Amino acid sequence: MNERDSEIIEQLLVPSGFIPVSDMDAADLIILNTCSIRAKAEQKVYSLLGQLRRQKSRNPNLLIGVTGCVAQQEGNRIQRKMPHVDLVVGTQQIYRIPDLIENLTAQSGNLAAEITLSPAFAIPPFHNLLYTNTAALGPGASPAPLDFKKFVTIMQGCNNYCSYCVVPFTRGREISRPVADILEEVALLVSQGVKEITLLGQNVNSYGQTNAVADSSVDFSDLLHRVAEIKGVRRLRFTTSNPKDLSDELMRCFAEIDTLCPQFHLPVQSGSDAVLKAMNRKYTISTYLQQVESLLRYQPNLALSTDIIVGFPGETEDDFAGTMELLEKVRFHSSFSFKYSDRPGTRSADFADKVAEETKSERLQRFQERQDQISLERNREYLGRTMDVIIEGTGKNDLLHGRTTTNHIVHFPTEPGTRLDRGDEIKVTINQAGQHSLAGNVIAKEDDHD
Ligand code: 5AD
Ligand code: SF4
Repeated sequence: MNERDSEIIEQLLVPSGFIPVSDMDAADLIILNTCSIRAKAEQKVYSLLGQLRRQKSRNPNLLIGVTGCVAQQEGNRIQRKMPHVDLVVGTQQIYRIPDLIENLTAQSGNLAAEITLSPAFAIPPFHNLLYTNTAALGPGASPAPLDFKKFVTIMQGCNNYCSYCVVPFTRGREISRPVADILEEVALLVSQGVKEITLLGQNVNSYGQTNAVADSSVDFSDLLHRVAEIKGVRRLRFTTSNPKDLSDELMRCFAEIDTLCPQFHLPVQSGSDAVLKAMNRKYTISTYLQQVESLLRYQPNLALSTDIIVGFPGETEDDFAGTMELLEKVRFHSSFSFKYSDRPGTRSADFADKVAEETKSERLQRFQERQDQISLERNREYLGRTMDVIIEGTGKNDLLHGRTTTNHIVHFPTEPGTRLDRGDEIKVTINQAGQHSLAGNVIAKEDDHD
């Protein structure tokens, strides 16, 4: 969601004369696009803003803005704690950012009209955009090449109210975009050279089912088919899915749509039915396991990933053993796992039986250690296989890297004399497998597809 919002902010600011730069010292405007889904993110925003105070004392022309969920949640408190912040913009207000900046600069008259560019700058886990003006970088800079992969938002907000989750409060009610708008945006992107589309929403599985804006006769599986029919979409992905709304039609798409990548992020959160009930997730582990079985029947090469929360209020050692057992049964290719944290306004923030911090840490470590072993074993299954890769860029030690359809990162050396670019489609035979990536040799550069 945030990554997509960063793209939107960038698209909005470029016509106003701003362009991304790679170096914080060259920036006249820094916008932190923040996430408050877990408590740690919020602390990181404040600590980063603290560091930016020094940056501002070096460059008094610098404007600092905060948007995203932390801005929505904290509001004016941000500027009270951090008076050097110029702009706080809520999640529904990002479209106003260019106007707000214009007002600010009109007041101080600081920013030059002409603007220059170099690649975007990002400080994980935030998606920061830094902008500068031409005067700062000098002539000769060229516009950024259009990325070959883009997110397309198909819905906003969420109505699910999982008891731990702040999203329904920070992102509002679920609203699906009209099918025609989505198809139009995808067609436009593809005409500009985009090859990979990820359809984005908090719970894409309920697309079109909960509001009148979208055509409720088109559900998410229909939408996937419609998008896949657009010529030029070489790879199609989507995120995120809630198992409670996962239909057989959607699972069947993995068998029916060639360009739908064999990769599925299906957050389970816990391996205990009691915990899932307290989380208000509305599915059971046996349903989840049946879904995994069907998915693998439709697409045997599917790489499955998930999200896990450990130490939800009331989670016993037995409940956690259920999560470990689920990991052994599904053997996820990868997962994101988190310690439970209270979020403001959520139901679970008021639950009794909070789990002790050290128990949470210990459970997280046990989960992650086992997941790392499984990821490595899973990745070794690719040894000797030839995989389709789209090149993403240069890596360490002059290696290039790209992604497989299963969304694995693959490193590979370049042959002398071959010219390979970002966005090129190649085939790589895998000869090394690590926990988090694969490596191999290029066997062919595919002919250009029209
Ligand atoms: N505490 C810990 N993890 C959380 N997530 C969401 N809310 C919380 C919370 N309060 C995790 C979930 C979700 C992912 C995006 O963040 O696993 O799927
Ligand atoms: Fe949060 Fe649940 Fe909605 Fe996901 S489905 S955004 S976890 S409320």
